[in-house]
Amino acid sequence: MKINTELTTKFNEIFGAKKTNQYFSPGRINLIGEHTDYNGGHVFPASITIGTTGVAAKRTDDQVKVYSINFPDAGVISFSIDNLSFDKKDSWANYVKGIVLKLIEAGHKIDTGFELLVSGTIPNGAGLSSSASLELLAAVALEDLFHLDTTRLELVKLGQKVENEFIGVNSGIMDQFAIGFGEIDEAILLDTNTLAYEMVPVKLDDYAIVIMNTNKRRELADSKYNERRSECEEALRRLQTKLDIQALGDLDETTFEANTDLIADETLIKRARHAVTENQRTLIAKDELVQGNLSAFGKLLNASHQSLKEDYEVTGIELDTLAETAQKQDGVLGARMTGAGFGGCAIALVKESEIPAFEENVGSKYLDVIGYEADFYVAHIGNGTTKINQLAL
Ligand code: GLA
Repeated sequence: MKINTELTTKFNEIFGAKKTNQYFSPGRINLIGEHTDYNGGHVFPASITIGTTGVAAKRTDDQVKVYSINFPDAGVISFSIDNLSFDKKDSWANYVKGIVLKLIEAGHKIDTGFELLVSGTIPNGAGLSSSASLELLAAVALEDLFHLDTTRLELVKLGQKVENEFIGVNSGIMDQFAIGFGEIDEAILLDTNTLAYEMVPVKLDDYAIVIMNTNKRRELADSKYNERRSECEEALRRLQTKLDIQALGDLDETTFEANTDLIADETLIKRARHAVTENQRTLIAKDELVQGNLSAFGKLLNASHQSLKEDYEVTGIELDTLAETAQKQDGVLGARMTGAGFGGCAIALVKESEIPAFEENVGSKYLDVIGYEADFYVAHIGNGTTKINQLAL
């Protein structure tokens, strides 16, 4: 990856010319294993080549100054390393602030401020983890600038803490893990219970993963997300009155179905059923992918969407229209929503030669039903968060 000289020029214009470093942090898609990461289950995400680039330099005083090319109207946002409380008016800069705070709380020495210019290619609010991308970008930049003695896993966990304790979204560890540990052309099978993981080559022959963006704003998404999480916790608590389990991910489907009377509430049973069946689908899907059984893999994507629609109820008409229309197209092996849901993106496994017709057909159906356009991008699996060393020629 090469230094982006345009961004260096922009940094110099805004903050004054000085020696800087550059960093890149990807977005992510999740192939399968949705809403399982806070239920002690498995996830199967991959980092993608669209992401966030940052240019950074240390300052000598206590001021942190950040600027985003994506939010020019917000201008330069400033705060002191001595006052790291959440402030709504600092908008996107709260993710950076949260990372500084969590690093300091963990005992790392950040004794001066810094400047950070960021530029992102991840569509905002699209469920491709632009926030985790920014968190890991800031964490890796600070690790480098301040020579912090840390590990990638610590930075990943700090990113999740920022979401949970600073931003107030009770998300699991999938996004930060996928972004921190991603590798080109590989997906990560992660056991969120133990954090053991396996890198799995994604070989799709003449198929590609197409990302379909609903362009629906994810309003209310965070509160609905937290609601689903509490529902699962309540279902688990009820199951634990008889079963010796730590998480819904510990259950197989048969044991779960034999014990639903312990939960005794239709909604909670459906939520827990999704968590249990999705975990099993994820493990089977990984095996099918390894064995090159793409059509079996695709069927599991469809089943995942169905479960997220019927049992977990996090899809909505926009995601259903995209995924279900996609599933019916020629050359499509499977399609499902990806990420938290309630808008955001879906993915489809599409034969490369069929992609233009696919986009045309799904796009026009979506416009008909929803009244505005969807966007399509072919996903490329790229590396996790990294310092960019190479100078452009
Ligand atoms: C969001 C969260 C993740 C995960 C997914 C759903 O992306 O940040 O932790 O729970 O939703 O699978």
